[in-house]
Amino acid sequence: MNPTIVLLGGDGIGPEVVAEAVKVLTAVGARFGHGFRYEPRLIGGASIDDDGMPLADETLAVCKESHAVILGAVGGPKWDGLPGALRPEKGLLALRKGLGLWANLRPVTVHPLLTDRSPLKAERLENVDLLFVRELTGGVYFGEKRRDETARGARAFDALTYEEYEIERVVRLAFRLAGQRKNKVTSVDKANVLETSRLWREVADRVAREHAAVTLEHQLVDSCAMRLLTHASSFDVVVTENMFGDILTDEGAALVGSLGMMPSASLGDSSVGVYEPIHGSAPDIAGKGIANPLGTVLSVAMMLRHSLALHDEALAVEAAVDAAVREGVLTADLARTHARSTSEVGSYVARRILESGAAYS
Ligand code: IPM
Ligand code: MG
Repeated sequence: MNPTIVLLGGDGIGPEVVAEAVKVLTAVGARFGHGFRYEPRLIGGASIDDDGMPLADETLAVCKESHAVILGAVGGPKWDGLPGALRPEKGLLALRKGLGLWANLRPVTVHPLLTDRSPLKAERLENVDLLFVRELTGGVYFGEKRRDETARGARAFDALTYEEYEIERVVRLAFRLAGQRKNKVTSVDKANVLETSRLWREVADRVAREHAAVTLEHQLVDSCAMRLLTHASSFDVVVTENMFGDILTDEGAALVGSLGMMPSASLGDSSVGVYEPIHGSAPDIAGKGIANPLGTVLSVAMMLRHSLALHDEALAVEAAVDAAVREGVLTADLARTHARSTSEVGSYVARRILESGAAYS
């Protein structure tokens, strides 16, 4: 296979972690006989600095023609003063919308050797293995935005809308994924207040009737936020709307102990997906070579599985990351003693893949 992979390093630590993902992917290619072709492009602040726009039309076009996109992160203090439509984050939102990526998968698993890095007690982390399915192209993120003046001063307006089909497709995906896991879906909403949530609940109930083997429960977002900290192991697949998903998945990352370990996959109707760590651009540590590349590397594993159907290759990447954790080859956010650099961790994972011998063939 010779797939074309677009590389959107973006801002802050984005380019550093994407460089390690490429190192790892190239090792996968050498080990399994694939010639990955890379198309580096700009997004976010880096793209604004280049041509004034957070996502160039040409970049979106190249992504549409590719097999998959690896993205680092967007944003940083340099661009914070820009108007909403020209901010770096707009590039990421336009990419999600432009590629029709309506589902965002964010798995939360806690490595048994890393439970002491979480602010939560170890016993609350036992058996935590949940998958967030976040709706990604609807809701308040994409609703009409407006400002006007009233007699008392400025008024701001963000519309929150959902159409039935937008809810149905993401809930359906959640049920399908739960069927491959522990057969449980928790649908999260604010149905005691929001009309969009009441529609969400109706649609989820309807989809549930077609999936007898999977149990559906509804939970309000506020109590879900609490349950994540007290009984996270009671979740299997959690499906929710765009903004609730944004907030809850950062909370989920706290369970893992480091945002740096969390991968994600953004998927839609076509096989082209965007794979990115959830940690963001971390401008405070950019350029220091200390960022954790494992969230991006694990996103590469998700890319191999979801966009390229290369399952053994995905397992090889995950096994090599597991080896890095077991051997303590970790960056400062997780290391117990001798912290390694971003590039040392990436090189270690790549070498483990190259050395993995015949185990996966
Ligand atoms: C995320 C990020 C983005 C989001 C930002 C950068 C627009 O927080 O992927 O979770 O809110 O979706
Ligand atoms: Mg977020």
